[in-house]
Amino acid sequence: MKYIRILLLILVSLSCLILYYHILYTSNVIFHAKENTSIIVWWTPFTGLSYNKRVCNYGSCIFTENRSFVQSSHDTKAILFYGSDFSIEDLPLPRKEYHWWGLLHEESPKNQPLFDHEEALSLFNLTSTFRRGSSMPLTLQYLQSIDSLTSKHYFVSTNHKNMLLKENHLSPILYLQSDCNPPSKRDDYVKELAKFIPVDSYGSCLNNKELPSDLKGIESMNHPELLKLIAKYKFTLSLENAECEDYITEKLWRPLTVGSVPIYWGSPSVARWIPNNESIVHVRDFSTPQQLANYVLNILSDDTLYEKYLSHKLYGKVSNTILIEFMEQRTWGINEDQEHQGTFVDAFECFICDQISKFHNVAKSGSFVANKSHYGCPIPKVVLNSSSANNEFWEEQWHKASGEAHVLNQLILTPPGVFSSDDFYGNVISYLEKTNFFRKHGHEEF
Ligand SMILES: *[C@@H]1O[C@H](CO)[C@@H](O)[C@H](O)[C@H]1NC(C)=O
Ligand SMILES: *[C@@H]1O[C@H](CO)[C@@H](O)[C@H](O)[C@H]1NC(C)=O
Ligand SMILES: *[C@@H]1O[C@H](CO)[C@@H](O)[C@H](O)[C@H]1NC(C)=O
Ligand SMILES: *[C@@H]1O[C@H](CO)[C@@H](O)[C@H](O)[C@H]1NC(C)=O
Ligand SMILES: *[C@@H]1O[C@H](CO)[C@@H](O)[C@H](O)[C@H]1NC(C)=O
Ligand SMILES: *[C@@H]1O[C@H](CO)[C@@H](O)[C@H](O)[C@H]1NC(C)=O
Repeated sequence: MKYIRILLLILVSLSCLILYYHILYTSNVIFHAKENTSIIVWWTPFTGLSYNKRVCNYGSCIFTENRSFVQSSHDTKAILFYGSDFSIEDLPLPRKEYHWWGLLHEESPKNQPLFDHEEALSLFNLTSTFRRGSSMPLTLQYLQSIDSLTSKHYFVSTNHKNMLLKENHLSPILYLQSDCNPPSKRDDYVKELAKFIPVDSYGSCLNNKELPSDLKGIESMNHPELLKLIAKYKFTLSLENAECEDYITEKLWRPLTVGSVPIYWGSPSVARWIPNNESIVHVRDFSTPQQLANYVLNILSDDTLYEKYLSHKLYGKVSNTILIEFMEQRTWGINEDQEHQGTFVDAFECFICDQISKFHNVAKSGSFVANKSHYGCPIPKVVLNSSSANNEFWEEQWHKASGEAHVLNQLILTPPGVFSSDDFYGNVISYLEKTNFFRKHGHEEF
């Protein structure tokens, strides 16, 4: 009997404790909202959290994936979208005038052509993309650190590379790609180049060499054995899947990090980011693949010339102050070694929180509307600049998206600010008809 009573007592206190914490937890939201803690809703599920209070540099905010806060709370000040999951059929509409929209989109221009167009971008107040013009640029998202550029961990000396060329019959150039039909049509370029200089191709695109079996399917990873393989090559083809200002991926940084010279195509302004002004061979400096091949053949017969491209490895030289400053200011990390710094998603959340807190508590004025320089990629171009290159599919996507961006902007920003997908597609078709899209692309519908 005594024991049962004690047990009962324990049970009752336990329930009280649970109830107490429950009240504490729920009132937390209300309590902090009173202290001007903004609520920020991830509209596209991303973090998996329904309640995440974060204290940032300037403000503190509650992040939630619970969409009911968009309409139910006046403390909801911003709504965040992950670019690749952004869908015109699923939006928080009608939009309240005090709702800021934030866009996180670090991915390739080929994924979401909508954001190539200013009328879609201007729906957002703050962005974080690879472009240096975005509100919180992620441009160097594939570079671990300046130290990784000067580290000799994987570095293979010129003498040793020369020996591998002669005795192991390695080609001077490595190509490693398994996405074979991107907007840039890079394979067409490589095919042409390989007529004039040997290329070892390990990926499924233009494959002529086998990867060791344990490395298959991980071409984009940083497996140490893969890095060792790349390091053996004098040159590595670093051709992005699409062209956009500041769209620079591991295709550039991986060879630079291991000490193979990148033959680069992608961001037209890549020179702005490389360690020294002679760290890459830039495809755009040559009018044909043959000219580029001749240049590379020339470097191959001149070790002094070759080593000019490796001053970051040989002499630890990184003279690009823009690169150094960007890395000094970057708060986020990119891999497990940098876990303590948080990811760019963490940084993006606090960036939004701080901007919003400042706006509401101090400035209370100012205009924040994203524009073309936040993403805005051009009509897809091919690496091989010839009229025979067939790039129609991607070009068509781009033009279609321009119509979608136009209609989306109008429907969201003009009352009533809500629409059905029938409204949307109907308006897009009329718009594309007006702009001669169908005549140019020969389609009745899409
Ligand atoms: C919270 O915001 C209101 C106006 O929105 C302001 O009057 C008040 O002073 C703020 N409180 C704090 C603690 O900043
Ligand atoms: C979302 O929040 C509402 C209101 O605060 C709540 O009633 C609901 O249970 C929450 N939903 C989830 C999935 O947490
Ligand atoms: C690189 O910079 C050095 C010194 O700043 C300069 O002398 C050289 O001409 C530059 N090279 C190129 C290719 O721009
Ligand atoms: C946020 O963006 C919307 C859409 O462009 C705009 O109407 C609103 O004024 C912007 N908010 C601020 C504070 O600039
Ligand atoms: C684009 O927006 C940025 C702010 O994000 C602003 O500094 C820049 O002047 C704008 N560019 C144009 C062309 O309006
Ligand atoms: C592509 O080639 C055409 C002529 O063949 C030239 O007018 C144009 O400037 C080239 N574009 C690029 C980006 O090189």
